[in-house]
Amino acid sequence: MEQKFGVPKDPSYLIKALQNIQEEKGYISKEDAMEVAEYLGVPLTQVYGVATFYEQFRLQPRGKYVIRVCQGTACHVRGSKTLLDFLKDFLGIDVGETTSDGLFTIERVACLGACALAPVVEINGTIYGKMNPDKLRDLIIKLKGAENNGCK
Ligand code: FES
Repeated sequence: MEQKFGVPKDPSYLIKALQNIQEEKGYISKEDAMEVAEYLGVPLTQVYGVATFYEQFRLQPRGKYVIRVCQGTACHVRGSKTLLDFLKDFLGIDVGETTSDGLFTIERVACLGACALAPVVEINGTIYGKMNPDKLRDLIIKLKGAENNGCK
């Protein structure tokens, strides 16, 4: 029997189907959610229920710069919540969202393995240690400036 989304036509494969879509496309679009619902024979509300329950799933494309704020214990005690709050406020988006210019996405992450540098932020794979809101703001302004100057 022909398979779609890399899973059999069986409602119990809903999570696996969503994981496969995200792995391939980076996020789950409205069209994909509707197609999965139809293929597996589950209500669309159930697809969205699962997709929003698990933090691993994204319902929008990620930005060019994915800013991941560590929420591990070492970072937490050194103020990572303040960093996250600052970031949400500065960019005007919530965790898991992307700015309207498509540049920045905020994500929360467990320990990044650089606890000695806490609090830690990772942007597109680069670790920035001993962060504070001022340093983070300067970094974002610099990245934005590079975009506006055409330096990619
Ligand atoms: S707790 Fe943040 S890097 Fe380990």
